[in-house]
Amino acid sequence: MGYPSLRMRRWRRTQHLRDLVSEVRLELSNLVYPIFVDEGADSVTPIASMPGISRFPISRVAEEARDAVEKGVRAVLLFGVPYLKDEVGSGAFLTDGVIQKAIRKLKREFGDEVVVMADVCLCEYTSHGHCGVIKGSEVVNDLTLSVLQKVAVSQAEAGVDVVAPSAMMDGQVKAIREALDDSGHDQTAILSYSAKYASGFYSCFREAARCAPKQGDRRGYQMDYRNAREALREMELDLEEGADAIMVKPALAYLDIIRLARDRLNAPIAAYNVSGEYAMVKAAAQNGWVDEKAAALEILTGIKRAGADIIITYFAKDVKRWMETE
Ligand code: PBG
Repeated sequence: MGYPSLRMRRWRRTQHLRDLVSEVRLELSNLVYPIFVDEGADSVTPIASMPGISRFPISRVAEEARDAVEKGVRAVLLFGVPYLKDEVGSGAFLTDGVIQKAIRKLKREFGDEVVVMADVCLCEYTSHGHCGVIKGSEVVNDLTLSVLQKVAVSQAEAGVDVVAPSAMMDGQVKAIREALDDSGHDQTAILSYSAKYASGFYSCFREAARCAPKQGDRRGYQMDYRNAREALREMELDLEEGADAIMVKPALAYLDIIRLARDRLNAPIAAYNVSGEYAMVKAAAQNGWVDEKAAALEILTGIKRAGADIIITYFAKDVKRWMETE
């Protein structure tokens, strides 16, 4: 049986008919809101390339998280911008480092009402801006692992719910899992940035977190965007090493990778709708070239349809309002 008795448009006729057959729906409970915590700042500083996003002093972080909660978002991902940087990124694992203080504050204020995640990486804390310890021009994998272990344990001690290693060092998940277990933090989850590509879409983040590499780029450790099978292997390895969830990053040019993960792996999958992807929509919207709400909801729903469970997005605080007025 085909046309004219078969008509695909029957289910599209009204909003409620469409809702009945919708295959995916974006939920606020899927979203994670990234927050930049700036140790050196004494006021909230907007990030020029990311309209609506700011760096927050430690004293204002709880207020920002409260705003996210009021807008229906229950998970935040913290990035620290330290006052001082050094060669090995030691600011990343201080007991009273910027991120540890922020984690303590949020946990004291919100308890289990907010899921607190933190990035485990060195690039925001190193003077050279690379994600690991360097020797000459090399980012040395195995030396970096012990530093990442300290970072994760210090965050767990501060009470973080989920650590998110993003340095793309081989063996980092195994090293972090071991260090967490050995220090009595067997309930701290690991969301691994498993398939993290060397991307042109991180530039605004690097402005926000002041973490652009001074020399060279990250292609020696982040993935080559020509590869999909390699991403699957990275994700499988991270699961074997003990990751509780895996991440694909960026999201938009990598929807096929999200789908591949969904079809082949049974762990929760996160996708990071990164800074450059956010900035593109904002810039076009500010010029009146796209409608921000329509474009953003379409993108976020597309990421979910591709197979992501968790979506990390700078739009997180806007979604509730947009969904209510859809
Ligand atoms: C840290 C890190 C980066 C991002 C998240 N964690 C930057 C990078 O790898 O250069 C980018 C996130 C974004 O662009 O929104 N390594």
